[in-house]
Amino acid sequence: MKKKTVLDIMEMNESGNKITMLTAYDYVMASILDEAGTDMLLVGDTMGMVVFGQKTTLQVTLEDSIRHTQAVARGAKSAMVIGDLPFGTFQISREDAIRNSVKLVQLGNAEAIKLEGGSERISAIEGILDAGIPVMGHLGLTPQSYHKFGGFKVQGRSEETAKTLIEEARALEEAGIFSLVLEAIPWEVAKEITESIAIPTIGIGAGPYCSGQVLVTYDMLGYFDFKAKFVKRYANLKGQILSAVQEYNKEVRNKTFPDLTYSYERPK
Ligand code: KIV
Repeated sequence: MKKKTVLDIMEMNESGNKITMLTAYDYVMASILDEAGTDMLLVGDTMGMVVFGQKTTLQVTLEDSIRHTQAVARGAKSAMVIGDLPFGTFQISREDAIRNSVKLVQLGNAEAIKLEGGSERISAIEGILDAGIPVMGHLGLTPQSYHKFGGFKVQGRSEETAKTLIEEARALEEAGIFSLVLEAIPWEVAKEITESIAIPTIGIGAGPYCSGQVLVTYDMLGYFDFKAKFVKRYANLKGQILSAVQEYNKEVRNKTFPDLTYSYERPK
C-alpha cells in the first residue's frame, strides 16, 4: 500500500478533494483508521485528556508524544502520520523546537510535525523546515494557550481578532507550512482563510469550507463523554462497550462463561 506524503495532501487540495484527518494514539486504532482510508493520523496532545485523563493538554511530555507516535506509525500503512509538539517543547527556543521535532521523526517515526501558534513561531518553523521536516500549523483555539484564553473558548469572533487570524495564516503559509489546522473559529473566518491561502486548511469546529476536517477520534466514536458543539457522533462505542462488559460480568458471575467451548482439553 502506498504511503501518503505531503505531496499527496497538497495534490488533493489542488484538485479540490477534501482531506480527512483523525487523531490516533495507539496501534490498534491507528490500523483501523488507516484501513478505513483516512488520509492523515494526528498523534495529538489531546492524548493528555482522552488517554491520560488530564484536564488540559498542558501536561503531555515529548516522551509521551514520541511513544504514542511510534505506536501509531506501526499501524499506519497508508495514512501520513503527524506528531504533535507538546507544550514547552518549542516555545522556549528555536533550537529546542528543531531538536524536539527531530526526535519526533527519528524516534517516533512521525512524517511531519504540528505545532500551535502564529507569527511568533515563524523562526522555529523555518528551522524545522531547514531540518527537512514538514510542518503543519494550528491557529484559532490553540489548547496550549488554555490559561491565556481563560478556558477552551471560540476564537476570532470580533472583526479585529478575525483579521489577525487571517494575517497569521498568511504569515505561516509564507514560512512554508504544508497545511493549517483551524480550530473553533467562526465558519466565515475559516472560509476567508481557506480562500486566501494556497495550502490546505484542516478544520475542527471551523465549518464546512475548509479543505479538510479533523476530529478527535474518541469524540466522533462516542467513546468519550465530553461532546463539543462541533462534534458529530458516528458511533456509540461507550454504549456498546458498557453493554458488552456488563454482559461479561454477568456471565462470569452466573457461571455461564467460560463453558467448555472456550476451554482446552487434554489430548486423548
Ligand atoms: O491535539 C489534537 O488532537 C489536536 C486536534 C484537536 C487538532 O490538536
